[in-house]
Formats: sequence, C-alpha cells, structure tokens
Amino acid sequence: MTLSGQRVRLWFGRGILAAGGIVVVGLISAALAGAQAPAQQAPLLSEQVFKNIQVLKGIPVDDFLQTMGIMAAALQFDCSDCHVGAGTEKVDWPADTPRKRMARIMVTMVGNINRTNFGGRQMVTCWTCHRNRDKPLTTPIFDTIYGMPPYEPDDVIAQSPAAPSADSILDKYIQAVGGAQRLAGLTSFVGKGTSVGFGGFGGGGDVEIVAKAPDKRATIILFKAETGRGDQIRTYDGRSGWVRTPLNVLGEFQLMGGDLDGARFDAQLSFPGQIKQILTNLKSGPPTSITDLPGPSSQTSVQKDVTLGQTHVVEVVQGTGPRGLLVTLYFDRQSGLLLRELRYGGSPIGRVPTQIDYADYRDVNGIKLPFRITYAWLDGRDSIVLNEIRTNVPIDEAKFAKPAPLKPR
Ligand code: HEC
Ligand code: HEC
Repeated sequence: MTLSGQRVRLWFGRGILAAGGIVVVGLISAALAGAQAPAQQAPLLSEQVFKNIQVLKGIPVDDFLQTMGIMAAALQFDCSDCHVGAGTEKVDWPADTPRKRMARIMVTMVGNINRTNFGGRQMVTCWTCHRNRDKPLTTPIFDTIYGMPPYEPDDVIAQSPAAPSADSILDKYIQAVGGAQRLAGLTSFVGKGTSVGFGGFGGGGDVEIVAKAPDKRATIILFKAETGRGDQIRTYDGRSGWVRTPLNVLGEFQLMGGDLDGARFDAQLSFPGQIKQILTNLKSGPPTSITDLPGPSSQTSVQKDVTLGQTHVVEVVQGTGPRGLLVTLYFDRQSGLLLRELRYGGSPIGRVPTQIDYADYRDVNGIKLPFRITYAWLDGRDSIVLNEIRTNVPIDEAKFAKPAPLKPR
C-alpha cells in the first residue's frame, strides 16, 4: 500500500515539498486491517487502531487524523516535527518525542480552558495562540497594529442587516446555474479531466467525477503506475463514504466523523436545485471579497482560459448541513455563481476546515457547471480541471461504493 505521513505543505509556497514523501509503510495498514474486520458500521476509534493514544481517545480515526492536521497547521509543522521519521520508511508514529508530549499537555490545557471559562465551547484552540508559530507571540507587534490586517473571517457569522437575505442569494444562484426547472431535470453527471499538481506534486492524474441525484458522488484520480503515486478515490453512496489517498497514514478508510457529513453535503450540493432543502438555519453575512487560492505551479495540462488569483466581491451565506455541519458559501455578487464552499468538521481541539473552490463555469445542456475544482484540506490540496461533463447519463453504482481492493504496484 502506498502511504505517506508527510504533511504536504505545498500551498504555503515554503516549507517542505515532500519529495520523498511517498513511502511504503505496512504497520498502520496492518493494524487497521485487523481492527476493521469485526465491526462494519461502528466507527473505528483512534485507540483501537493506534498504539499510544492517551488524550485523543474515543474519536473516529478520520477525526483523529484531522486533529493531527489541526496541530500541524496551527504550529506550521509537518508530521515529522512531532513524529520520528514521518515521511520516510522508518516512521514510528507511536514513539513519543518532546514535542509530542508537549502537544498532549496542550490538548489537556485547551480542554480545561474551554471547560472552566467558556462552558465547554471550543473558544480557545491551538490556533488561538500559535498562529503558525511553534512558540506563540507574547507582545503586540507594531507592524500588525498599523499595517494591513490579514483577511480573517469569523467561523460563525451573524445575520448582517446590510446583506441581501440568504434566501434571495440562493435564488439568484439557482437562477444563475440554469433555473429551478432545468435543475430539477438534472439526475446525474460524469466529468472527465486531469489533476493539476501543486509544486509539481500530484499532477497529471486522470480524473473522473461522477454524481447521481440526490446524494451520490465520487471523485476518482488515477495516476499512471510509473509516477509511484497511489490512486486517490473519494466515494459517497448516499449513506457511507470512503477515502483512499496516498497522502494519508491510513491509506484507505471508511469515513465516520466530520468527513462523512462533508462528503454527504458535497454530494448533495452537486445538485444545486435542492440547496434550500439541504441547508437549514440560513444567515447572510456582510458582503466581502475573496481571492482564489494561488494557482498550481505547473499548468502544462490546464486550459489557458482559467484565471487564477483573481479577487471577487462575494455574498456570504452560512447554514447548517448534515448532522449540524457548519457550512459557509461564497457567491459571486455579479454572476450569482458559487465560488467557494468552506465547511467545518469537528475535533476535540477545534473545528476542522475544508475549502472547495469552484471556477470556470461552463454551460452543459443549459446548466452551468464548474470545470475547475480546488479541494483544500489541512493536509493537502487537489486541483481538478475537467475538459468534459456529460449530464443525465447512466452510472454504475459500484463507482459510489467502497473502492475496489488495491492492486499491489
Ligand atoms: C504538534 C505535534 C504533532 C504533530 C505536528 C502531529 N502529531 Fe500525530 N500525534 C501527536 C500526539 C500528541 C499524538 C498522541 C495523541 C494521544 O496521546 O492521544 C499523536 C499521535 C499520532 C498517531 C498515532 C500513533 C500511535 O500508533 O499511537 C498517528 C498515526 C499520528 N499522530 C499521525 C500524524 C500525522 C499523519 C501527522 C501530520 C499530518 C501528525 N501526526 C502530526 C502530535 C502531533
Ligand atoms: C493559551 C495559549 C496556547 C494554546 C491554546 C496552545 N498553546 Fe502550545 N504553546 C503555548 C506556549 C506559550 C508555548 C511555548 C512554551 C515555552 O516555550 O516554554 C507552547 C508550546 C507548544 C509546543 C512546543 C513547541 C516547541 O517546539 O517548543 C507544542 C508542540 C505545542 N505548544 C502544541 C500545541 C497544540 C497542539 C495546541 C492545541 C491543542 C496548543 N499548543 C495550544 C501556548 C499555547
């Protein structure tokens, strides 16, 4: 199985490009295979799969790995900053290091702060203090007092009196993509294209996105064997979801935690006609502007008409999705189209953000669909450029199910 523990920090444009990041590690996959057999649907918990869990017990493994992602992101660390040999074949995840021990103390500290001062609400997280540093700042800095403030939106937004109503923003979106009637007739689609690498990593895969109304979706990225990179597959069949990714300790696992709710929401959002049914508790925040994430460094296989790094004035809608999933949507004020989805899963130490950017909308049989999708999570980023989408075509149900067993490479 192809696995990598190295956190790939390509999108920061600094830090480590996991050149040797893809390694074969049998340890964890073996532990997982053993633990998975008896209970099919019960969440696989961190302490059942891993060997040395002391504070992050009782959470599904996908949430556990997201928790690792939060720690790494907050301190601007790679996995290897806390784990011996991460990113190499000699990785020893269970082994304790001084930083790992410190991180445990911090997990307990954060829990205590929130319990004793904020009624258990997760108001203080690793990010609150660390903000990309191993040792937090203690004193105000003049550059940040008098300089340009960075864009730092709140997770939870309040209804803004100045904003158009959430309902009217969603109506405009439905209209912009083709209108309720046409959307009601959209029952499935198949998109084909390529993945675009970041920092020369992860590009050149063959991509297939398949979706079936109301709530099935799969993204399949197949890499040619010689790249040495394992295939990347995300599926959601209306109830269960699976991920196989080479950039993950587990290699392949069933979604159980916040990732499952996110996968469900993404599948549902593939059919925008139902957006008002899938989101409740709608609010609209003050209009703002967002800038596309910096684009991929190599664009050899990308259409030239894609504009990157552009800034858009947007309307902001927040709502609640499956099982309380917090979702913020950004719609282009001019075109009404959805440009960004930011959703937050849970973890014991704070919210876990996932951001999906949609661009290059094109008309397919009267419906506007995004041909460029950039999927960013705490441990990596995928960008997909489609060159063809066909709508209302039959799709083999197996595409949405658990990925077929890995073939040894
Ligand atoms: C800031 C330090 C820190 C960073 C960065 C970090 N971890 Fe951890 N990791 C920990 C701590 C602490 C534990 C133990 C948690 C506990 O005791 O409940 C742990 C445990 C683990 C385990 C379980 C090992 C076992 O069998 O007991 C795995 C797997 C793991 N981390 C993977 C990762 C991955 C992958 C990354 C990079 C995305 C990462 N970690 C980044 C601190 C860190
Ligand atoms: C209330 C502020 C605060 C919060 C919240 C916080 N930390 Fe810290 N953390 C600190 C301070 C201050 C230090 C530096 C201590 C020192 O230098 O002696 C530190 C140091 C660390 C270190 C050691 C870094 C190094 O290389 O020396 C790790 C690892 C760490 N924190 C992880 C975390 C994690 C993980 C979280 C979230 C679960 C977290 N911290 C939340 C204040 C905080």
